[in-house]
Amino acid sequence: MQNCTIFFLLALTFYISYIILSYYYSDAHTDWLEAGQDDIDIQSVNIQGNKSEIFESWNSCFTVEMMGIEDPEIFWKTFVVSSKKCDYQAGVRQLGIVTLKHKNKTKRVLFPKVFNTGPHNLFTIGVGRDIRAEKQFRRKMHKLGNNVTFVGADPVPHNGDLYSQIGNYFPLAIGGKSGISNARVLENSGYIDTDKIHIDVVYFFKDLLNVTNIDNLWFDAEGEEFANDFFDIFYENGKFVQSGIDLCQVNIEIHITSDVAHRKEEFMKFLKRIIQEKRFGVFFGDAFGHIRMYMFNYSSQYCLDKF
Ligand SMILES: *[C@@H]1O[C@H](CO)[C@@H](O)[C@H](O)[C@H]1NC(C)=O
Ligand SMILES: *[C@@H]1O[C@H](CO)[C@@H](O)[C@H](O)[C@H]1NC(C)=O
Ligand SMILES: *[C@@H]1O[C@H](CO)[C@@H](O)[C@H](O)[C@H]1NC(C)=O
Ligand SMILES: *[C@@H]1O[C@H](CO)[C@@H](O)[C@H](O)[C@H]1NC(C)=O
Ligand SMILES: *[C@@H]1O[C@H](CO)[C@@H](O)[C@H](O)[C@H]1NC(C)=O
Repeated sequence: MQNCTIFFLLALTFYISYIILSYYYSDAHTDWLEAGQDDIDIQSVNIQGNKSEIFESWNSCFTVEMMGIEDPEIFWKTFVVSSKKCDYQAGVRQLGIVTLKHKNKTKRVLFPKVFNTGPHNLFTIGVGRDIRAEKQFRRKMHKLGNNVTFVGADPVPHNGDLYSQIGNYFPLAIGGKSGISNARVLENSGYIDTDKIHIDVVYFFKDLLNVTNIDNLWFDAEGEEFANDFFDIFYENGKFVQSGIDLCQVNIEIHITSDVAHRKEEFMKFLKRIIQEKRFGVFFGDAFGHIRMYMFNYSSQYCLDKF
């Protein structure tokens, strides 16, 4: 009888510990922990600064700060400083951009300013075995009455199990051009170099997914993806414009790998053209070994009306 009681108590203890532990590691617990921040972030939809004024002011500031620099190395180093300065001068915080953060992953988003605006999509290119920021975004959007369709792509297949929790997953590397090349990917053991099949970014969105609007694009590529004129998709009369793809918000990380000088040159060319064409705002420039930034398409009425 006594043995029975002890056994019962032990079993009960294990059971309760199991319940507590599984709750501790569950999304429900994380959602509960982050609920306070949600309340703050959701208020951002009420921040309605004058978009064209802020964008104009940002663009003038960046023109003065960056267009005169000719050396790619200096350009790369100056970018973060100038970005912080111009964000401040132009009053970019009056746009209501929210920061989602988990570990090393930082993403900026604008929520739709209108309640229940209809379909909304987010594309994660380069999942990197972490979807916490995506889950934060999904939860906050739910609270605002919006459902988000998620699509993820990453050449490392074990991202699939993870990403399938929130959306559709493709085991692919996305780049400026289709082909086989060397990609640096994050495996369990750390970064490794391996041959990867790249799919042309336009083919991916237009032919494979038949997408015409991209609300959020989160692009975290490790290297080669930026070769082959990848940045063309952001340009006036570039491949996205020609394909009728309307891109609103972009979080992009630009890594430096072995081809360092080359990458910094490309970055300078890219950013100068973005400033000159005056269609995208580039905010929250940040360096974490690599450069990351947030971009918004100010030439799109769809994007301006929605966010
Ligand atoms: C924003 O600012 C511009 C230029 O100053 C002005 O023409 C426009 O009316 C303003 N828009 C709103 C919604 O206040
Ligand atoms: C994350 O950040 C830490 C420093 O805070 C760094 O040591 C680590 O390498 C980073 N990890 C990745 C995957 O970037
Ligand atoms: C979002 O999804 C829920 C449940 O799947 C559905 O009831 C609701 O109508 C959807 N809302 C919108 C705006 O599509
Ligand atoms: C692509 O989407 C459009 C609507 O956005 C639709 O009219 C067209 O039939 C779709 N094409 C394919 C091949 O699914
Ligand atoms: C920005 O918006 C314009 C206007 O809708 C659109 O034509 C263009 O394709 C968008 N830019 C990019 C790079 O998607």
